[in-house]
Amino acid sequence: MALLEVDSVTRRFGGLRAVDAASLHVDEGELLGLIGPNGSGKTTLLNLLSGHMKADAGLVRLDGREVLGLNPTQLTRRGVLRMFQMTRVFARVSAFDNLVVCGLAMGLDEAGATRRAVELLDELQLAHVMHLDGGQLSGGQKKLLEFGMCFMVPPRLALLDEPFAAVHPVMKETMGAFIRRRNADGQTFVLVSHDMPVVVELCPRSVCMNAGKVLAEGPTQQVLQDPSVIEAYLGEDVADEVEHG
Ligand SMILES: Nc1ncnc2c1ncn2[C@@H]1O[C@H](COP(=O)(O)OP(=O)(O)OP(=O)(O)O)[C@@H](O)[C@H]1O
Ligand SMILES: [Mg+2]
Repeated sequence: MALLEVDSVTRRFGGLRAVDAASLHVDEGELLGLIGPNGSGKTTLLNLLSGHMKADAGLVRLDGREVLGLNPTQLTRRGVLRMFQMTRVFARVSAFDNLVVCGLAMGLDEAGATRRAVELLDELQLAHVMHLDGGQLSGGQKKLLEFGMCFMVPPRLALLDEPFAAVHPVMKETMGAFIRRRNADGQTFVLVSHDMPVVVELCPRSVCMNAGKVLAEGPTQQVLQDPSVIEAYLGEDVADEVEHG
């Protein structure tokens, strides 16, 4: 049985079907790539899976139990954790305290939260900035800190939305290594990214969306070579050229 089963999920915005009868599954321990051109519905799908948006139709099962319609808090309790395209850290709290507060909120005691925070700061190469406020960190450091916050208590399923976007290559490397290591330890991920070399490197299997629908699914290289996938991306480039001259 798959850890997560998404069955014909639809979300409309007015007349637009941002997610259009999308079906996919995520196996336990898998690092699944979720790709597709801009506006294809990836973020909306993650929002539906994390409870941040309501679906209009469909079913989602986690460990065989229906979870569509639960709110983010209920889903977090069941182990579905979502990282946003926009970084969210507490700006006026130190990096260290950002982690500790998250750990406490996730049910760790103070000693446990402190220990985990120190380990994660080390692993994410943030130890030298641990006493700086969240707001003083660079964009990439904030993103790394957010990774730490999400993994104070490892989730059943981690949903990552463009974690590498606009991040310095050195930090991208740290992040990639973190994801790879966690996955090797059994952590299940869905990774949304436009960074195809990273998706190819990290994700054995990928799902490609286009216009809200699942266009292709399978081994990542195979999906990228699928003519319908190439056409979906080319269509976007051509549209961009027309738009921007
Ligand atoms: N809150 C909203 N209200 C209205 N339309 C929305 C809303 N959120 C998303 N959309 C539309 O739904 C479609 C899918 O958007 P979504 O953000 O899910 O795409 P995406 O695949 O994550 O794109 P990107 O790669 O650019 O992040 C787009 O046409 C978008 O404009
Ligand atoms: Mg998006």
